[in-house]
Amino acid sequence: MTNDALTIDDLHHKYNKRDNSNWILNEINLKIENGELLGLLGPSGCGKTTLLRLIAGFEYPSKGRISLNNIEISNRTKILSPEKRNIGMVFQDYALFPHLNVLENVLFGLKNKKDRSRVDYLLNVVGLDSFVGRYPHELSGGQKQRLAIVRALAPGTNFILLDEPFCSLDIHVKLKLRSELPNILRGCNASGLMVTHDPEEAMSICDKVAVMNEGKIHQIDTPINLLNNPKTIFVSSFILGNNIINIKKTGSSLMSCLGEINTEGLLNNAHVKKMSISPKFISIKKSESGIANVISKEFLGEFLIYKVSINENILRVRTNINNLLNNGDKCSLSIKNNSYYYLYPGAHKVYI
Ligand SMILES: Nc1ncnc2c1ncn2[C@@H]1O[C@H](COP(=O)(O)OP(=O)(O)OP(=O)(O)O)[C@@H](O)[C@H]1O
Ligand SMILES: [Mg+2]
Repeated sequence: MTNDALTIDDLHHKYNKRDNSNWILNEINLKIENGELLGLLGPSGCGKTTLLRLIAGFEYPSKGRISLNNIEISNRTKILSPEKRNIGMVFQDYALFPHLNVLENVLFGLKNKKDRSRVDYLLNVVGLDSFVGRYPHELSGGQKQRLAIVRALAPGTNFILLDEPFCSLDIHVKLKLRSELPNILRGCNASGLMVTHDPEEAMSICDKVAVMNEGKIHQIDTPINLLNNPKTIFVSSFILGNNIINIKKTGSSLMSCLGEINTEGLLNNAHVKKMSISPKFISIKKSESGIANVISKEFLGEFLIYKVSINENILRVRTNINNLLNNGDKCSLSIKNNSYYYLYPGAHKVYI
């Protein structure tokens, strides 16, 4: 027996099985250990909700298997129906019952409505214990979201799926609720999978994050490992917000628009095609002889982000707010000392 709450093996999915187009989900493998919260992170349309629907049992996979607590619940020919899975679900739009009050919403899925200990604990934890008689239309957005989480966990499930649970909340409520979520799950001994397209959200509260694009998982790792070792170009641009720059081989050296690449320690540099560098590791200087041009600038609180064109590349460069340049200014760019970049394929980290 393993300690896994959820295991997905070689999962493939297409909505129209006769369609020759690409897989919507392509070779998905993942594990969620008991007590773990996994973030599923990716851009719009990459297949996040589809994966949740398969785990919940609303769709048959085209290929592969899903197991919950070591019991196979989905394969190509057999699925356990959603109501028998004992999985809690929190939908993006809350999906509360409008004609039932808070308590009735929470008790709805409970077989033994007399055993209120878990319900009372959850209502108390999320601060809804004094609102039990209210109807959903009498609650704020944040309160509705809390109610949806309580309703999903109340029937004693120890596995919960959350689809963009905080997306329609204002920033203050969002920050408060999302920091509470790991504690609520811990208090119920529950594991979960939370879908989001916001890297910061996934990285801030999840134990591990699966980064997905076009139906494929690129990397599953702890937030710190994703930040330090992004395995693919997609991960480094989507998670780290890095610039992706083409590399050309000139004689025996590799060149980028920021100058020569340090190939020390690279066993075989022939295959290196792209570099990935953070906007904070590029320095920008106004210069009449510079070959770069400022296209736009954006204030981001403590920083300025310049968009700069250089040799057919558009790069983002982060500076402090005192480094003022104007749109159209000529400038020169260079890689800062004490920084690093990544080379792909291979995810080779090069320190400067
Ligand atoms: N019922 C359906 N029938 C056919 N195609 C579908 C169906 N549902 C989703 N799709 C397609 O599957 C792909 C993945 O959709 P999905 O809803 O899983 O994306 P997502 O990652 O959740 O996106 P978002 O962040 O916008 O919610 C999309 O191309 C979408 O058009
Ligand atoms: Mg979705």
